[in-house]
Amino acid sequence: MCGIAGYIGPKKALPILFSGLKRLEYRGYDSYGFLVIKKDGLPFLHKKRGKISDDEKELLSLDIDGNIGIAHTRWGTTGEITPENAHPHFDCKKEIFIVHNGIIENYKELKQELKSEGHIFSSETDSEVLSHLIEKYLSEPSENGERATSLEDAVRKVLKQIQGTYGIAVVSTREPDKIVAARMSSPLVLGVGKDEFLLASDASAIVMRTRQIVNLDDGEIAVIKPDDFYILKEKKIETIDWDISDIQKSGFPHFMIKEINEEPDAVENAFLGRLIEEDGSVKLGGIDSVSEQISKTERIFLVGCGTAYYAALVGEYLIEEAAKIPAKAEVSSEFRYRNHVFNKNDAAIFISQSGETADTLGALREAKQRRILSIGITNVVGSTQSRETDAGIYSRSGPEIAVASTKAFVGQVTTLILLAVFLGRQRRMDLEQGKKIIKELKLIPDLIKEILSQQNQIKKIAEEYSHFDKFMFLGRKYNFPIALEGALKLREVSYLQSQGYAAGEMKHGSIALIDQSLPAIAICPKDSVYEKMISSIEEIRTRKGPIIALATKGDEKIKRLADKVIYLPKTIELLAPLLNVVPLHLFAYYMGVVKGYDVDKPRNLAKSVTVE
Ligand code: M6R
Repeated sequence: MCGIAGYIGPKKALPILFSGLKRLEYRGYDSYGFLVIKKDGLPFLHKKRGKISDDEKELLSLDIDGNIGIAHTRWGTTGEITPENAHPHFDCKKEIFIVHNGIIENYKELKQELKSEGHIFSSETDSEVLSHLIEKYLSEPSENGERATSLEDAVRKVLKQIQGTYGIAVVSTREPDKIVAARMSSPLVLGVGKDEFLLASDASAIVMRTRQIVNLDDGEIAVIKPDDFYILKEKKIETIDWDISDIQKSGFPHFMIKEINEEPDAVENAFLGRLIEEDGSVKLGGIDSVSEQISKTERIFLVGCGTAYYAALVGEYLIEEAAKIPAKAEVSSEFRYRNHVFNKNDAAIFISQSGETADTLGALREAKQRRILSIGITNVVGSTQSRETDAGIYSRSGPEIAVASTKAFVGQVTTLILLAVFLGRQRRMDLEQGKKIIKELKLIPDLIKEILSQQNQIKKIAEEYSHFDKFMFLGRKYNFPIALEGALKLREVSYLQSQGYAAGEMKHGSIALIDQSLPAIAICPKDSVYEKMISSIEEIRTRKGPIIALATKGDEKIKRLADKVIYLPKTIELLAPLLNVVPLHLFAYYMGVVKGYDVDKPRNLAKSVTVE
C-alpha cells in the first residue's frame, strides 16, 4: 500500500531514494515525499500530491548533497490527499522526520495530549504523532524521570506507548549519522549494500543496489549508520533469489502483460525440482517438518483474499478429488471472525502472493490461536505469512508488480496441484494416477505458450466487445473459480460490471439479466461437465445474449452456438484451470488497454492490502 525508502551511504541520497520510490509505484499511491539531511545539517524536504514521475526532471536536477534520507509514497487513509498529509512528517522544530506505514490506533488521544502540551501539528494524519512523541522524549524526562538518551532510545519509548501497526523510518538533524527503523505488522527490509545501507517496505526498492537483505521482525528496532547497523537482536543476512530484470518491463508496455507472458514460467518454477516421477508423487521440502500431522489431517480450510481466494476455491476441488479430504475455501476476512468449530485434525492453508495481506494474516493468527495446523502458500520469500505459518510452500512466481494478480494465481494453483498430489499419494491416490498428473503437468508450460500465441486474436475480441458495459463469466466445477477470476480481473482493470457464476446457478436468477446487451464468456472445455455447459450456452443463445466461448481445440459444435470461440489445447480436467485462466487474463488486460486505463495501477487499489 504505502511505500518506504531509506538510504545512508557515500552517495547522494536523493536520486537513490527517487529510484527506490519509483520501484514502489506499483503499490499505488496518491502523494509522496522526500527528506534528505544535507551536508550543512539542514533538512531538504519535498512533499507533493500526485505522481513522482511528474517531478522527475525537477527533482533530479536539484543538486542536494546529503547522503542520508528517507522517502515515502502515501495512499491516503487518515486525512485528505494534500502535501501536508504526505510523509515525511516532522516535529515542532523540524528536526525529527518520520515516514510511517500502518495505522496508529490511539493517535487521537495522543494528539490531544501533545497539543495540550503545546505541540503544533502540521497534518491531519495519525502518523505525525510519532515525530512529536519522539521530540517530547528527547526534550523532557518521561514519567519515570528519564530523558531519552538517543534517537533510537526515544523511538523505543514511543513505540511502547502506541497501539497499532507500523513500519517506520526516522531521522534527525541532531543525530545526522543514522536512520532508526522499526516494524510491527508492516514489512520493512534492510538492504546491505557495498559501503551503504538501504531501507524499504518492499525488496523491489533495493534490489537495484543489493540482493543482501535483512527482514525486520515485529517489535524489532534497527539503527543504521553509514558503516554498520545493529538490531536489538542478532539477525541473519539472506539473499534475494531474483534480480533487477524481474522488476523491469523488459520491452513490454505494461507489467501486467509481461507477467501474463510469464505464466508458463510460473507453472514451471512451481514444480521444478519437486516432482518424483517414478513415484507419481511430489516432494515439498517446506512441509517436511509437519508431514506426520498432515498425514492425519481430516479436514482442510483454504484461506485467501481476492484472486488468492479463487486459487483456494480451485484447491478445494483439487484436494477433495485427488486426496479425498474434505476441503473448504473461505475468504480470509470471514474465516477470521467466524466462530469455527475446529477439530484437532483440521489444517488451514493460507494463500497469498505478498504474504502481507492483513486479512489473511489475521485469519492465520486466528488459526494459530485455535491451535490448528497452519500451512502457507506464499510467493514473497521472507514475508510475514511465510514466517508465521507452521510450515509452507513457496509458489516461486517471482516478483509480481502489476496490481492485478496474474502469474501469481497460476503459481498458486500449480502449488495447490502439487499439494493435492502429495496428499493424495499419502492416502488413496494410486501410482498410475499420480504419474499421469505429473506427466500432464510437465506439458502445461508449453500449452500456455500456445495460448499466448493467440494474443492478437484475444486483443481483437476485446476491441470488438469494448462497447459493452457489462459481462457475465460462466464455468462449472474447476472452471467456476476461473469464471470468478476472469470477472474480477475485468472489473479491476477495465472498471466494467462483470460477474462470475457457476453456470448451473444461472437459471436460478441471473438468467433474468440476459439479452443482447450482456455478453457471456463461457468456459466450456471438453470435460465431465461439457454437455451441461452446452445447455447453459443454449439458454443464453435463445435469449439473444452474445457468447464468447473458451473451448477445446477441435470442438466444431461450439462454433454453431457461440459468436466467438477461443480454442485451448487439451489437458486433463484437473489441470485445465491453468490453461483456461490465461485467455481471461489477456482479455481483461486488452480491455483495460482499449479503454485507456492505467492497467498496472488500477484506481482505488493497492498491490498488497496491509490494512483490514
Ligand atoms: O498478496 P495477496 O495474494 O494476499 O493479495 C490478495 C488480494 O488482495 C489480491 O489477489 C487482489 O485480489 C488482486 N488485486 C487481484 O488481482
